[in-house]
Amino acid sequence: MVSYKELGLVNTKELFKKAIEGKYAIPAFNFNNLEQMQAIIAACVETKSPVILQVSSGARKYANQTLLRYMAQGAVEYAKELGYAIPVVLHLDHGDSFELCKDCIDMGFSSVMIDGSHFPYEENIALTKKVVEYAHAHDVTVEGELGVLAGVEDDVVAEHHTYTQPQEVVDFVTRTGVDSLAISIGTSHGANKFTPAQCTRDANGVLIPPPLRFDILEEIEKQIPGFPIVLHGSSSVPQEYVETINKFGGALKDSIGIPEEQLRHAASSAVCKINIDSDGRLAMTAAVREVLATKPGEFDPRKYLGPARDELKKLYMHKTVNVLGSAGKA
Ligand code: G3H
Ligand code: 13P
Ligand code: ZN
Repeated sequence: MVSYKELGLVNTKELFKKAIEGKYAIPAFNFNNLEQMQAIIAACVETKSPVILQVSSGARKYANQTLLRYMAQGAVEYAKELGYAIPVVLHLDHGDSFELCKDCIDMGFSSVMIDGSHFPYEENIALTKKVVEYAHAHDVTVEGELGVLAGVEDDVVAEHHTYTQPQEVVDFVTRTGVDSLAISIGTSHGANKFTPAQCTRDANGVLIPPPLRFDILEEIEKQIPGFPIVLHGSSSVPQEYVETINKFGGALKDSIGIPEEQLRHAASSAVCKINIDSDGRLAMTAAVREVLATKPGEFDPRKYLGPARDELKKLYMHKTVNVLGSAGKA
């Protein structure tokens, strides 16, 4: 059993309070490997942004849970070495059981998500409450979820959104004791958030996706004023990455994300955590494909993972400065 405090990590409590007051959102970036972690920390140190390092069950399986934990511990030291000790949260993304959340808390995570959104309402409450009781005894913060995002969430596929019902949030939040609430207002996971048929075209023929349901967000804010809200599925799917990937042998189709101005708008509300994974995957893949296609003699992984890491850092800096507004808040 190790407490996150011994590792130099922080929970989300203070960060969310400041983010709501300051009308910005904390970036929650997923990481599975060294280069992603280095890019996240380097970008957040350079822009002086607090950061949430997110680990999914898939990441734990891919990279090994113990290694990821030590990498997060290393991230805290790495930030100091780069010259600025930003607040770092180590967060379990989409925890699907009490046991998984407990495991993470016991090994030094400072925050966990228990995603009971696929269960019937009362089951979601019971599971979330159980996690909150254990987590709070260790000063670890908990994110719950109400409503289901369309798309793939870990191994669960939902064809349509089930938007969060504002009339449920007071009951859910008070009965579970969660510290933040992930909601469903039209975002979804992955790089294919909308079909072209759902979009309109602007004068230049660019596909414009349907707007997020800000009316639902506002209704939720009225029900639980000042309560921290989380947006999953918030990648913007930069078209330049999609084009580079396809130019150098990729075959991505109908890749459409959430427009940045909508995320900026969300960040200025009670939304204080914005989850981004897919954009990092696209940035990395675009950079790797370009090197491998243009320099076929290259076989040193540092020669393609290095440029991928540089591109990731650029992307994350853009997010903290221009989208989430978290730059300068650490
Ligand atoms: O919401 C899911 C995150 O993008 C993590 O994805 O489960 O493939 O690691 P993953
Ligand atoms: P994206 O797939 O839009 O990056 O969302 C990531 C996410 O919500 C992780 O929990
Ligand atoms: Zn998610």
